[in-house]
Amino acid sequence: VSGGLVDTFGRVHRDLRISLTDRCNLRCTYCMPAEGVPWIPRPELLTTDEIVNLAEVFARLGIVEMRLTGGEPLLRPDVVDVVRRLAAIRGERGPLRISITTNGIGLVKLAQPLADAGLERFNISLDTLRPDRFSALTRRDRLDDVLAGIEAARATGLKPLKINTVAMRDTNDDELVDLVRFAQQHEAQLRFIEQMPLDAGHIWSRVKMVTGKEILETLSGEFSLEPCEGRGSDPAQRFVVDGGPTTVGVIASVTAPFCGSCDRVRLTADGQLRNCLFAREESDLRSLLRSGASVDDIEAMIRASVTAKRAGHGIDDPGFLQPDRPMSAIGG
Ligand code: GTP
Ligand code: 5AD
Ligand code: SF4
Repeated sequence: VSGGLVDTFGRVHRDLRISLTDRCNLRCTYCMPAEGVPWIPRPELLTTDEIVNLAEVFARLGIVEMRLTGGEPLLRPDVVDVVRRLAAIRGERGPLRISITTNGIGLVKLAQPLADAGLERFNISLDTLRPDRFSALTRRDRLDDVLAGIEAARATGLKPLKINTVAMRDTNDDELVDLVRFAQQHEAQLRFIEQMPLDAGHIWSRVKMVTGKEILETLSGEFSLEPCEGRGSDPAQRFVVDGGPTTVGVIASVTAPFCGSCDRVRLTADGQLRNCLFAREESDLRSLLRSGASVDDIEAMIRASVTAKRAGHGIDDPGFLQPDRPMSAIGG
């Protein structure tokens, strides 16, 4: 390794988030309009080989962990193949660790093949346990598929199984306790997430956002919460619930950002490198790769992007602008 990816604030980057597609089979109101968004044209999507080639360069630069996201990553027909090939790459600490963040639909078929391909673990999104709410929130009647997907992920035995819930005022904020009980029953680690300004419609409002503090107040009325030690670069502040083994976490990206310990860079489905979820610039790795560039050229572009990374997301800055692309196109 020719020296890791260290930015001007001393943060070492070890985590690459790869978006496999911007498409999704749900239409969560906080993410996309009912009609969806203009999808990235297929020729612009990275191919399986291109993803693997870039991942090899990232591994040389000290990336040890890769997370597949979307859109909905299970919609990529080659998802199992991607996992198999990425898991075969060796990083500086041995084989790359590959995980996936998914809405769970499709896991009934894919969970075991993904595990067999070398996946390390699953993060599954679940915002409500009520079918009517799920349909209203996601505009699709598929809660049963998600719940079956969670069972299938659990059946692989890969641990920890994480469940992500975006907390939303007057939408699911009366279900936080029920969701913790669900996590207890399913041997899962639950994380509640503060909603960030990343929706396609730019309708995010600070007032609607349920804060980490509010979440913890609600939960401590019902459970005993013991803080976990050693957070490292974990975006979640975690607590042991009622003596364990279940833990609950709060990802307070807006009110208590983890930018200071951020160790991640992201690759969009169309091959653009972003040094931050909220970055205003992207580096066009796809064009560079397709122009026949050398590994050194690719390394140089990745290093330049990391060097340009800002201290934090700047959501509280007076001139804050949402990124041009919504989260579904950037990668979750
Ligand atoms: P693990 O802890 O390794 O399981 O990963 P993770 O928590 O980063 O993964 P996941 O994809 O499940 O992300 C959970 C939530 O964290 C996302 O929904 C985002 O709200 C938030 N998140 C992920 N990456 C970033 C990031 O780079 N910046 C910020 N501010 N939030 C992020
Ligand atoms: N703020 C916070 N989390 C979000 N997610 C999607 N949009 C937002 C947002 N604006 C979550 C999804 C999923 C993960 C990939 O990101 O619900 O759990
Ligand atoms: Fe890292 Fe940017 Fe996310 Fe902060 S907002 S944690 S700097 S990627």
